[in-house]
Amino acid sequence: MNDARAYHTFAVSSKVGQVLVIRNLDDLKSLHALSLAGKPWLCCGEGSNLLFVKDYDGTLVVNRLRSRRLIELDDAWVVEAAAGENWHELVRWLVSRNVGGLENLALIPGSVGAAPVQNIGAYGAEFSDFCQWVEIWDSRTQQFSRLSHAQCQFGYRSSIFKTPQMQGCIVTRVGISLSKHWQPNLSYGSLQSLDSDSVSISQVFDMICQTRTDKLPDPKKIGNAGSFFKNPIVDSFWVERFQPHYKQIPIYPLPDGTFKVAAGWLIDQCALKGFEMDGAGVHVKQALVLTNASGNASGAAIARLASYVQDKVYQKFAIKLEPEVLFIGTEGFVNPQEVLSNYAKS
Ligand code: EPU
Repeated sequence: MNDARAYHTFAVSSKVGQVLVIRNLDDLKSLHALSLAGKPWLCCGEGSNLLFVKDYDGTLVVNRLRSRRLIELDDAWVVEAAAGENWHELVRWLVSRNVGGLENLALIPGSVGAAPVQNIGAYGAEFSDFCQWVEIWDSRTQQFSRLSHAQCQFGYRSSIFKTPQMQGCIVTRVGISLSKHWQPNLSYGSLQSLDSDSVSISQVFDMICQTRTDKLPDPKKIGNAGSFFKNPIVDSFWVERFQPHYKQIPIYPLPDGTFKVAAGWLIDQCALKGFEMDGAGVHVKQALVLTNASGNASGAAIARLASYVQDKVYQKFAIKLEPEVLFIGTEGFVNPQEVLSNYAKS
């Protein structure tokens, strides 16, 4: 068994059966051999959205395919980037060339290949706003194919790449389209202080980096996987019931008449900021982020804490928070909700 610490940002002490690092086409052949032999494997980038709740018996396939290319068209830039590139480095590279669009997504931990899987988002922007296509490789047929934006079925932190349909496939490359007529996206809180007529791409980038650094723990220093839960969607009955009691509740109306509520605020209202259990903690500055506070927490301890947080929020607000992070058990991905329900019973 191999230590999984080096391959995910929660840095829990779980083990994995084998590790296969994919750097080139030859490595992809090894993955094909694994698939043909019916051996279990799962693919990760930088593991910034994973929780190993137990030791994983199969092979962890680590995508380190590298390459980036910037193509100039009349009205837009097209960026082609391999899945193993670091997301933030790609954003920084574009900003240094004065190519705008992705700056609101700066400092999101993880690889380029994870961006479409999770449809990463922050500060009023998400990956799907810029994605043109996603290239995948099927480990059984060894064929590459491209999915168009529509075929990716992007949603809030979701895409086709999270569904069983994509079993056996890995993301190898993405195509991103960035308009040359850059408009700053200053819709989010602190960004509104910037002047949209004069602000530069690098100023927005710097402010995003500063905001994230101020609020979110650096996974290199304290293990975490960003937001642990998704922001829940509620209906107007819920709003009518709770808003009169909590005037400050951060609620965002959605086009279909429902509302998104800030999960971090809900957890914060349960007075859980800084709360710790078995070495796992709720981050002191952003309650939506659970951390490996002691550095020695097990994946099970993080899941236990998540179940505790879920329960507290449910008792106070009648909302069952849904994990955003993907859970890995002995045989592969497991349903996070089932794992947390089991801890709630125990
Ligand atoms: N809030 C609190 N207490 C807290 C945390 C948040 O009161 O402990 C309040 C804030 O004051 C604010 C609201 O809740 O009014 C929303 O908080 P924030 O702006 O920090 O954003 P978020 O909804 O908690 C989402 C994304 C983040 C992304 C930020 C910024 C999800 C699940 N998370 O968090 O993404 O960086 O918006 O756009 O949608 C991630 O996915 O890993 C991630 C970090």
